[in-house]
Amino acid sequence: MTAKLKPAARVRGQRQDVWSVVNEAAAASPVQPIVNMGQGFFGYNPPDFILNAAKESLDRVDCNQYAPTRGRPRLKKALADAYSPFWGRTLNPDTEITITTGANEGMLSAFMAFIEPGDEVIVFEPFFDQYISNIEMAGGKVVYVPMHPPKEGAVKTLSAAEWTIDFDEFERAITPRTKMVVINTPHNPVGKVFSADELKRIASLCLEHQILILSDEVYDRLYYVPFTRIATLSPEIESITLTVGSAGKNFYATGWRVGWLIGPPHLIQYVAAAHTRICYSSVSPLQEACAIGFEQADARGFWDESIRSMKRKMDLFNAVWRELGVPYSEPEGGYFVMVNLSKVQIPDGYEFPPHVASRPRDFRLAWFLIHELGVAAIPPSEFYTDANAHIVEDYLRFAVCKPDEVLEEAKERLRGLKKYLKAE
Ligand SMILES: Cc1ncc(COP(=O)(O)O)c(C=O)c1O
Repeated sequence: MTAKLKPAARVRGQRQDVWSVVNEAAAASPVQPIVNMGQGFFGYNPPDFILNAAKESLDRVDCNQYAPTRGRPRLKKALADAYSPFWGRTLNPDTEITITTGANEGMLSAFMAFIEPGDEVIVFEPFFDQYISNIEMAGGKVVYVPMHPPKEGAVKTLSAAEWTIDFDEFERAITPRTKMVVINTPHNPVGKVFSADELKRIASLCLEHQILILSDEVYDRLYYVPFTRIATLSPEIESITLTVGSAGKNFYATGWRVGWLIGPPHLIQYVAAAHTRICYSSVSPLQEACAIGFEQADARGFWDESIRSMKRKMDLFNAVWRELGVPYSEPEGGYFVMVNLSKVQIPDGYEFPPHVASRPRDFRLAWFLIHELGVAAIPPSEFYTDANAHIVEDYLRFAVCKPDEVLEEAKERLRGLKKYLKAE
């Protein structure tokens, strides 16, 4: 290819990303069909009241045309009503909320709005992979700070709360060029819900150094311990914080691509400006459906039911690890569980393709599970830098947002691990 036809560096990734490694492995596995516990999409539909709202919206002329760039007024109002109680004051739907094409595009808009070439953005590892390319597309430099798993994570099931930030490491990562820090709570993939104390420590450093906080709270309706929203800790913290939400995660509809940012007008206006230039506006009929979802969710007990049903799935699935004596991090929120498979002995001489053999052990574990048992999970070292990948090389991430039959089938297959487990 001549130099002029070459793709730009920002999309010319050197190595295969984790999704294609896992999908290719799944397609090549002798065990078919694969039970896919890898990617975090739901294996079931949104509830009927939301599905019906979407269908009805498609019949409306106004819903099939461009939405206003900042979002349909009904959705902004429904979000303001839903979130004002958490903020302890009335949110202004026109100046403090902007609707985006999923949380992903919302975060890209936030980076495009505030990051200049050379600005630094602190990201905790493991990170949601999309942050990295989005920050880099804006010209930013990612500065990584690892989260550390519990010391006894290889031998004991402990709460995901035990994954911790070393605050000295965090402070050392701050430089005069640090413009933003990205946090994620409830956390993908760890399942940690950051405590109010941890959030206060992060926020106080951000206030001291005038650093913006981008708080990715897409799993905000799935928590099994008390959940604190960093923006609600104080008016000063709120003034430097953008909170990200996702209707896809909230309503089991990741394909709808409806998300939003909540923040003070002096931040939201620039996110909205970037969003206008990136995609003008977001899917209109599904915004209307999400508005109806928020209007009715409380009265229908949907949020409580959502928590109950996901927690039940989590417990149902994790029973297999207890049965096998394999430790995991007990999630405090979200729908992922990190399982420590250090006890699994891959037979000597087991053959891996070169692109798997060259990656950390979790890639080999993922490959092994796909090929021997027909269960797909995600190797989390993909969400760490190479230097820190070893921290999670014995873990795999499983998504439990699947029908019970799928979870039961996965458990049955995972029992096949017994013969590969090291004796205690
Ligand atoms: C932590 C985190 N943030 C953001 C997203 C993306 O959300 P959306 O589908 O609304 O773009 C995901 C999806 O997996 C996620 O796990």
